[in-house]
Amino acid sequence: MKEIIKVSLKTRKVEITKCATDMLAVGMFSDVKGPDRLVRELDGRLNGAIGRLIELGDFKGKAGESAIVYGDGKIAAKRVLLIGLGEKKKATLDTARRAAASAAKKAVAMKAKDLSLAVHRAFGGRFDPISLGRAIGEGAHYGSYRYDEYVSGDEDGRLKSLGIEVVDEDAVKMRNLDKGLSSGAIIGRAQSLARTLANRPANVINPPSLAAATREITRTVKGLSCTVFEKKQLEAEGMGGILAVGGGSKNEPRFIILKYAPAGGAAKDKPTVAIVGKAITFDSGGISIKPAQNMDQMKLDKTGGISVIATMKAVAELGLALNVYGLVPSAENLPSGSSYRPGDIVTTYSGKTVEVLNTDAEGRMILCDALAYAAQQKCNIIIDIATLTGACMVALGKHKAGLMGNDDGLMKQLQKAADESGEKVWPMPSGDEYAEEIKSKIADLKNIGNKWGGACTAAAFLRQFVGQARWAHLDIAGMDMIENATEYSLEGSSGFGVRLLTTYLANLAGRKT
Ligand code: BES
Ligand code: MN
Ligand code: ZN
Repeated sequence: MKEIIKVSLKTRKVEITKCATDMLAVGMFSDVKGPDRLVRELDGRLNGAIGRLIELGDFKGKAGESAIVYGDGKIAAKRVLLIGLGEKKKATLDTARRAAASAAKKAVAMKAKDLSLAVHRAFGGRFDPISLGRAIGEGAHYGSYRYDEYVSGDEDGRLKSLGIEVVDEDAVKMRNLDKGLSSGAIIGRAQSLARTLANRPANVINPPSLAAATREITRTVKGLSCTVFEKKQLEAEGMGGILAVGGGSKNEPRFIILKYAPAGGAAKDKPTVAIVGKAITFDSGGISIKPAQNMDQMKLDKTGGISVIATMKAVAELGLALNVYGLVPSAENLPSGSSYRPGDIVTTYSGKTVEVLNTDAEGRMILCDALAYAAQQKCNIIIDIATLTGACMVALGKHKAGLMGNDDGLMKQLQKAADESGEKVWPMPSGDEYAEEIKSKIADLKNIGNKWGGACTAAAFLRQFVGQARWAHLDIAGMDMIENATEYSLEGSSGFGVRLLTTYLANLAGRKT
């Protein structure tokens, strides 16, 4: 089977016109009059080819725009790729991330084996070089990602590897860029791994094979341990929610427990955090079966859990000074003679009973066991991430994930991590009014609310299982999948959550990069 494109990342001190490479990428803002010093220098050598292109109106520096000028032996680079950065006053770290991603995507499309990035130069002193380096590292991985494991043949001869370097002339700036770049590479690699696992279909990834793949990942990462509860242990522990949802498939459910402990031990004042992710390897709806249209997309219902697994890998490789649990309940939601049914009353791990009114509201049924487990382990902070409700997609579209929680401080920190990572969130309520709707007459809870506010009642349900912990919930339905490829991304799994969660945890651990 084909492996994904291997990306290597480094920095190099070199003068721009002397940079020998297949492709040299530079950025331009749309609202900055005339090209900056760097572009002028290239343009001079190229006898004004860039200037003419701009004059013709073929490139305006708008976000998403790009153009190619050939080096023609006048500079050391074979091609110059101009990347539009949009308006300078609106620039964020994500502008740099996307620019690097667009350049990497172009390099792969043109089979350029070396890509030199000078996109950071246009930003001047706007962001610190460490953060800029990290965003560029993340973007470089993101843009070069392709998913073609199951495409046989090699007819278009796609690259096996891509060498990317960030080039500058200033040695001091370079060192800081390099620091950020190595963190960015760790996070970017983890995100690509998440995308591959998520893109794999349900006949390949089921709960047992996801557990096996996770174990394999942890084998190569220091500080990370993996325990898997199989059906017998789930029964012994009384994890009735996971067992109920997994009951309909011959692929039995699993509960994957990852633990990260830093080599030197965590600082005393640091909280223990649990990140919890929904991994339904296929969601047919079960007995409350979904309509046929787009049901194939429900192979991505495991995205939350996978982003937790990939985040744990990144956290361990970054060596964050923090104890972290990664908890991934996994099941396949199918209809069969052994499925759970509407009307069933399920006793969950917490002891709370749940009346099942719709077997398609299965995410909360597996998450509640994992959340109760996290609370029992005395985690101070619990964050869950799940493709939980279509209602969240209706509310926020495909631009932001829903953010609910019981602690304003925690929600603010997640909001900040979202701004830094470019994986955006928006606050939504989940308090008592919503909890009223999920009270059952014949059990402690029921698994759906009334017609309206489905994302909020789902979150209110989860909230019942976190005990005294500070808790936040990310509803990533809609964010898990990119429907149409963009200039910086492929269609399919987005890997959403890996950058957001890793950034949050790195900030909490007090790490500067
Ligand atoms: N996995 C789905 C939510 C979903 C829908 C994710 C579309 C991504 C795209 C979830 O398990 C589900 O089916 N939710 C139901 C809940 C309802 C039965 C209360 C929904 O949203 O319809
Ligand atoms: Mn469902
Ligand atoms: Zn689901």
